[in-house]
Amino acid sequence: MMTMKISPSILASDYANLAQELDRIAASDMIHVDVMDGHFVPNISIGAPVVAAIKKVCRVPFDVHLMITDPLDYVEDFARAGADLICFHAESNSDIGATIDKIHALGKQAAVALKPKTPVDAVVPYLDRLAMVLVMTVEPGFGGQSFMADMMPKITQLRALGYQGDIEVDGGVNADTVKLAAAAGANVFVAGSAVFKSDDPAATIALLRQNAQEAYEKETE
Ligand code: DX5
Ligand code: ZN
Repeated sequence: MMTMKISPSILASDYANLAQELDRIAASDMIHVDVMDGHFVPNISIGAPVVAAIKKVCRVPFDVHLMITDPLDYVEDFARAGADLICFHAESNSDIGATIDKIHALGKQAAVALKPKTPVDAVVPYLDRLAMVLVMTVEPGFGGQSFMADMMPKITQLRALGYQGDIEVDGGVNADTVKLAAAAGANVFVAGSAVFKSDDPAATIALLRQNAQEAYEKETE
């Protein structure tokens, strides 16, 4: 049985009150940290110093999503800052195998992310070394976009290939779309707006987890 994990994205949180925002999502399984360099994506978010600062006030594992052009040059900074899992993009300029090796040498779990137009083939040679594959369900760069249901076949394909690691979806995940992703075989769900714009983030996290669990079990029973 796969464990369903909810990873709220702090991109949608109040950066002026990050410690309190993290308290509101203490019931989550991971914390999704979106790192954008204004080059790989047309937006700039936060970097390693902020990750190091919030690591001191948060016990939930950090799922760091690097939307940056040269991840190989920065994985060490993020590992030292407190990332538990480091996810970089297949479309970046860094060699995929070398970047995975470096993440492992730093004692962290490695994941590779796929933009919507990138096929699953890009990650197939590395599957046995990856703790997680991230199937993007929006074009990376901004929160608050609509879920691309046409990405679901990529998840099905990964499971059909026998991949038993975590499959994460990121972008437009809410109480409804989480069911589509779980039914396809995903088990890690990033949610920015859905969690932080809700009145009761803890209840929203519980609902997302329950909806995912039900959809996943329905599909696999
Ligand atoms: C988009 C980021 C996402 C984003 C998701 O580039 O990778 O993690 O924060 O935000 P929502 O859940 O609002 O679509
Ligand atoms: Zn993300």
